[in-house]
Amino acid sequence: MSTSSSAGTPPLVAVIGGTGMNQWPGLEIDERRSVSTPYGVPSAPLLFGRAYGVRAVFLARHGEGHKLPPHAINYRANLAALQQAGVTDIVAIAAVGGIADWFAPGEVAIPEDVIDYTWGREHTYADGREGRALQHVEFTQPYAPRLRRILLDAARAASVTVAGAGVMAVTQGPRLESAAEVRRLQRDGADMIGMTGMPEAALAAELGLAYACVAVSVNWAAGIKGVGDIHAEIEQSIDAGMTKVRGILERALPVLAQVSA
Ligand code: HPA
Repeated sequence: MSTSSSAGTPPLVAVIGGTGMNQWPGLEIDERRSVSTPYGVPSAPLLFGRAYGVRAVFLARHGEGHKLPPHAINYRANLAALQQAGVTDIVAIAAVGGIADWFAPGEVAIPEDVIDYTWGREHTYADGREGRALQHVEFTQPYAPRLRRILLDAARAASVTVAGAGVMAVTQGPRLESAAEVRRLQRDGADMIGMTGMPEAALAAELGLAYACVAVSVNWAAGIKGVGDIHAEIEQSIDAGMTKVRGILERALPVLAQVSA
């Protein structure tokens, strides 16, 4: 289960940015920290600084220059590095394809559940190696309810409409899906598709870090609205979506950084 920071310990919030948010203009960077972990090195140096008046950390999920494909990201190193740095709360930004009618390109959602279709990724710290204890981490609510509530309140305060909550399907990539695959995901109950949400969310849970996601629909998932040019759709919608994300972060960060009671 994800936990929030304990009473009295100042929270430290990290933003993990993905496609469309490889940098965080809201962060006034005062330190670039290259770190290593028992699981290897994270995607990029951790960027420390102040955002909207509070201390925060940024990690570019795909690396500087956006070179790492979803299946080659060292999620374990990323999450371990953030924990090592004292991070307590993570807001993950994800560009996704919309399946649900309500999740058109340019809209944002705060997902409430996830289905993992990825394979072959280093997806747990409880891998039986180096004497690490077997752990069946609870994952009933993959996204921390307290963080989700703060993000939703922040969106309201920023006059950003959140299109919905929804279930995120996480596929292996890097290719996009076939129309039949999307129909299957839809039948499974997915409202959106991304490629990086897992194992990221599960690893955060294993480490006891509070984790929530702001998903930006950047295209209709394959076949949902006929056969369009998905890349053209992404180009058209991504900036509008990321502007909304920045609005939410501006209002959320000061609240997230408060010591929870
Ligand atoms: N599918 C999977 N991942 C994505 C998509 C998609 O359509 N768009 C952005 N990330």
